[in-house]
Amino acid sequence: MQPLIDQHGRIATDLRVSLTDRCNLRCTYCMPPEGLDWMPTDEQLTDDEVVRLIGIAVKELGVEEVRFTGGEPLVRRGLVDIVRQVRALDADVEMSITTNALGLAKTAQALADAGLNRANVSLDTVRSEIFHQITRRDRFTDVVEGLAAAEAAGLGPVKVNAVLLRGVNDDEAPELLAWCLERGYQLRFIEQMPLDAQHGWDRASMVTADEILASLSSVFRLSPASEPRGSAPAELFQVDDGPATVGVIASVTRPFCGDCDRVRLTADGQVRNCLFARSESDLRLAMRAGATDDELAERWRAAMWGKLPGHGIDDPTFLQPDRPMSAIGG
Ligand code: GTP
Ligand code: 5AD
Ligand code: SF4
Repeated sequence: MQPLIDQHGRIATDLRVSLTDRCNLRCTYCMPPEGLDWMPTDEQLTDDEVVRLIGIAVKELGVEEVRFTGGEPLVRRGLVDIVRQVRALDADVEMSITTNALGLAKTAQALADAGLNRANVSLDTVRSEIFHQITRRDRFTDVVEGLAAAEAAGLGPVKVNAVLLRGVNDDEAPELLAWCLERGYQLRFIEQMPLDAQHGWDRASMVTADEILASLSSVFRLSPASEPRGSAPAELFQVDDGPATVGVIASVTRPFCGDCDRVRLTADGQVRNCLFARSESDLRLAMRAGATDDELAERWRAAMWGKLPGHGIDDPTFLQPDRPMSAIGG
């Protein structure tokens, strides 16, 4: 087994697989109300192709964790079957999902039975009307039910990911944390990154980790968590002497690229060695032209070697990638 190593010595063991670029929400910071030009079906990997590539990653490239993302991965019809097939390939690989939880109340148990280990749920607010405003859909209750179903199905510890938007929900950090603590979910706040389809991100309107921590500290006592962070994007803080923790994923103001262990596969079969990569490597075309597993593995390794040391958001020459967050999978 030869791992996915880059020229800066980082080894990727965490594969994030986007299963679709479609989504049933329309978060204002992610995409316009009308949605985007979705990927044509023939460009999307089939279930068997996805499973084959994950198999190569796990068997030949040393991948230990697989996370399904989107768009919204629950809108992919074959999801439960993909999970089941990956589990059949490997009993030990850690499998998780990052989802908006719409429909999770119905599928959480089937996903757990198929071999999924964990679920992270995106939820930016616990005020129903603000949820409607941010996502442009009146579906707060579905998310609450989805979260509860995930916990009940054993997909925990369930984590909640929240993005704060200035003037919309930036006053809500303590309320969100209290809500999550009450239900036993681990909350993480994500700094907004320049990955929106509209290219509307600006640094001044981004709510920073410092601001979030200051706001939380007005209500809770926070201290750095003792568990080692490793390559996790989230920096954890113990809340009121624990054991509960809250996290900040401060990609912009406290970048963690030096410890990155992630590699991404898009729904159309492109390897992205970084969220902010400006080039991709096409495994779909190679696969459909008859490449062997070894050839695909070699192509994948070559794609990783060129991973840049950091995302470069602070560089004057920074250019946002062409592919938006919703088609990369976060
Ligand atoms: P856990 O293993 O459960 O901690 O998962 P995770 O935090 O790695 O995954 P999740 O999908 O919940 O990630 C939450 C958010 O972290 C994503 O939506 C991204 O915004 C951010 N994130 C994840 N990976 C990266 C990364 O490689 N770079 C950057 N900049 N942000 C990332
Ligand atoms: N910056 C940071 N996080 C984002 N997400 C979507 N767009 C962005 C962005 N530009 C988050 C969603 C969800 C996860 C998949 O990524 O809110 O929690
Ligand atoms: Fe919201 Fe995620 Fe869908 Fe974007 S991809 S609209 S952030 S749920």
